[in-house]
Amino acid sequence: MNNYGVFGNPIAHSKSPLIHRLFAEQTAQHISYEPLLAALDGFPAAVQEFFRTGSGANVTVPFKEQAFALADQLSERAQRAKAVNTLKKLSDGSLLGDNTDGAGLVNDLLNNQVQLAGKNILILGAGGAVRGVLEPLLAQHPAEVGIVNRTVEKAEQLAREFTDLGPMTACGYDWIDAPVDIIINGTSASLSGDLPPLAATLIKPGHTVCYDMMYSKDTTVFNQWAQQQGAARTLDGLGMLVEQAAEAFYIWTGLRPDPAPVLQQLRAQLE
Ligand code: ATR
Repeated sequence: MNNYGVFGNPIAHSKSPLIHRLFAEQTAQHISYEPLLAALDGFPAAVQEFFRTGSGANVTVPFKEQAFALADQLSERAQRAKAVNTLKKLSDGSLLGDNTDGAGLVNDLLNNQVQLAGKNILILGAGGAVRGVLEPLLAQHPAEVGIVNRTVEKAEQLAREFTDLGPMTACGYDWIDAPVDIIINGTSASLSGDLPPLAATLIKPGHTVCYDMMYSKDTTVFNQWAQQQGAARTLDGLGMLVEQAAEAFYIWTGLRPDPAPVLQQLRAQLE
């Protein structure tokens, strides 16, 4: 039996063990997948201990940057993200670090028939969550990705770093009001029930699609705002969570589970 798990602190409420158990059932794999609580100053030691027998692990807050630092090899998207959410033990015993968050976001958007090629995409926020998804988003060939952030320099820094992959711009909230095709909220504002100071005119009623990378039982504050402005659709990050897990499962097993029934089950539990 192959052993997997998810490192985090805290980790008790992680949905990943349930998601991966359902993937394993679907694909008839006999695996274990456990929540792995690491001490805040003990992540490297916990990883070393786990991989004596472990085959792969997910990594969540606050250890993604440390996982990036300790991986022996990195995928292109993990290098760009400067963060790792998936570790895999290779046959020579070394650890491969990958990042499936951006693929999770892109796959969830595509599953929902939101085309990205040729679109104007605005991303709110310029922290680790946004950095983690830029490479896969740009790989879909949008017309432009604009990053808007409270601290404009951080948006400018990200735009500089990723501009070789596609057209990017950076700005502050009070600089923009022209309608866009897709708005993705990657700020941590939803966590505290806050809303970035957005111009209502960013949304073209009946056209603009809004995606909140956060999810909650009730509609997020950002998605409530989007609905009030007449957004064509609002989506939350539960699908991204399931899709990033499916991508990790594929990296470990070579098998692609069907995320749809798993997402349905999680949504039902949440509600
Ligand atoms: P994460 O790893 O989740 O991305 P982070 O690196 O701390 O966390 O980044 C949080 C992001 O949310 C930042 O872009 C932050 O803006 P600043 O860089 O200006 O701090 C953004 N953010 C948090 N609260 C916000 C709020 N109330 N309004 C607008 N942006 C907010």
